[in-house]
Amino acid sequence: MREDELINVLKENGQGHIVEAYKKLDAAGKERLAAQVEKIDWSIVSMAGHEELAQERGKLEPLSALEVSEIEKNRAKYEETGLDAIKAGKVGAVLLAGGQGTRLGSDGPKGKYNIGLTKEVYIFERLIRNLLDVTDKAGCFVPLYVMTSDKNNDETIAFFEEKDYFGYPKEFVKFFKQEMAPSVDFNGKLYMEAADSLSLSPNGNGGWFYSMAVTGVLKDVKARGVEWLNIFAVDNVLQRIADPVFVGATLDSGCVSGAKVVRKAEPMEKIGVLCLEDGRPSIVEYYEMTEEIINSREANGDLSYNFGVILNYLFRVDKLEEILSQKMPVHVVEKKIPYIDENGALVKPETPNGYKFELLVLDMIHLFENCLSYEVVRDYEFAPIKNKTGVDSVESARALLQKNGVEL
Ligand code: UTP
Repeated sequence: MREDELINVLKENGQGHIVEAYKKLDAAGKERLAAQVEKIDWSIVSMAGHEELAQERGKLEPLSALEVSEIEKNRAKYEETGLDAIKAGKVGAVLLAGGQGTRLGSDGPKGKYNIGLTKEVYIFERLIRNLLDVTDKAGCFVPLYVMTSDKNNDETIAFFEEKDYFGYPKEFVKFFKQEMAPSVDFNGKLYMEAADSLSLSPNGNGGWFYSMAVTGVLKDVKARGVEWLNIFAVDNVLQRIADPVFVGATLDSGCVSGAKVVRKAEPMEKIGVLCLEDGRPSIVEYYEMTEEIINSREANGDLSYNFGVILNYLFRVDKLEEILSQKMPVHVVEKKIPYIDENGALVKPETPNGYKFELLVLDMIHLFENCLSYEVVRDYEFAPIKNKTGVDSVESARALLQKNGVEL
């Protein structure tokens, strides 16, 4: 983009303060800032503060799950099918580790967090151990793709190197960086984090497949003949990765996607519920549902909308490629955004001071024609670490790990 065009674009979008900052820079600084501005999707930035643009929900209906009792009856059959797929190299895993873990308040990648009590036990280490349970059984390795961001990529790779990949073969691990998105104040003005840089942060966990495609990692998926990808979050230290029973059940169901779900602890639990929306699978938050829907029950007394997702999904790769160009909803989220003030000093706010724009992996489910809702037992498979203490914390995850016989 020519300089005059760049200045026009910024002015047209109400970003005169960036023009002023730009004019003060030397040639290298100008180039750096211009490159960031050129990547901005202005239709997204203009959503700041416009709640009315939030998506209306369609017609919701319950989606029944494959429940634990049913899974147990067919465990051997599912496991065999799943292990066959893994042995045939058809299953890969994608670790979503591009987030900033702000609630945990640790600098650097969340996976580097040490949750040990008497020894060092890192989150990444726990995840790799869980994956090794499966690969030991299968007698072969599962390709692992790790999504990072500009903010934590180098540190993540250095940590894996330092720890010798926690015993996983390095040639089966590939890192790729996700896209970054700008942040704005409550009036839609772009924040800057340095004299020559916008305040950029990872664009949510929903763009992972797009990022696999643009970074070229998808070529590795294809070259290896991987047909299914198991997506999982960095912070659930109990989860089963490339779980053969889940893979087998999903293959057996004929569905093109699968989601691990847990039974809700109570109707208002803050967990995204897997259901049908306008006949397609969809994940809906409790605050998007009416009280009547939340409390509706089936003939057997169970909640109709009874199963919440735990960010562990299986997606068929050919279907992911089909939906690659489809637009996903953008979530405008209030956050604490570090920025430089008019004197160039870095400010780290204590309370939310603007918006970030995020894509969420849970919106991806709605792009698939069907999804197997697969129940797991919460106490065996769900120990997310979001906070230091309290709900979904280091403390609660430690207790669950110990309950499952993990030494800390
Ligand atoms: P969370 O929504 O819990 O976000 O991410 P977070 O960044 O880890 O933590 P907070 O909200 O700042 O405290 C759920 C999963 O999605 C990944 C995270 O790394 C985690 O595995 N994620 C999130 C990304 O990979 N990229 C993102 O931009 C955001």
